[in-house]
Amino acid sequence: MAKIPLSLVVNGEKVGPVEVDEYTSLLDFLHEFLNLTGTKLGCGIGVCRACTILVERENGSLEPVRSCINNIGRFNGAKVTTVEGQAERNADGEIVALSAVQEAFLRNFSFQCGWCTAGFVNGATALIDRLKREPVAAENVTNAIEEALGEHICRCTGYVRYFRAVKEVIESTPGLVKEGGR
Ligand code: FES
Ligand code: FES
Repeated sequence: MAKIPLSLVVNGEKVGPVEVDEYTSLLDFLHEFLNLTGTKLGCGIGVCRACTILVERENGSLEPVRSCINNIGRFNGAKVTTVEGQAERNADGEIVALSAVQEAFLRNFSFQCGWCTAGFVNGATALIDRLKREPVAAENVTNAIEEALGEHICRCTGYVRYFRAVKEVIESTPGLVKEGGR
């Protein structure tokens, strides 16, 4: 297998340059090279979204990406955020504050085994990031959540609590819902 050079930023930290097998998935790279195991392998074929991470686009917006079906070469030069990068940490790397989405999932008892949770955290974070630029009408909040997260699979069937938690975050964060309806 051919090796390719790779440099990227993961959770704000520079990684590389390193040489990796060109067919290594981003998921395997996170697990095997960086020991970041919060991103979970579910189906491995791009269906369940358990492995969703975030990639920062050039305009600063966040794109949810399935790390199981994308080889590492696609991420050369990219800025990637995994679930480990969601919480705020102090200089020693200790978590000092969870993100609003993480707090809401805990408050709502959204997850059971937790296997799908990292994917839901990142998918919901991308939605909230988009709504900061494109606020949604109040009556369309539920639709927006279903569109963003409807393809995430939770085998423990926590959908109602996940969706309720995300709705809470959207409705309690100023600027995400259009004022005066449409
Ligand atoms: S593990 Fe990647 S989509 Fe299921
Ligand atoms: S909490 Fe178990 S798969 Fe979602």
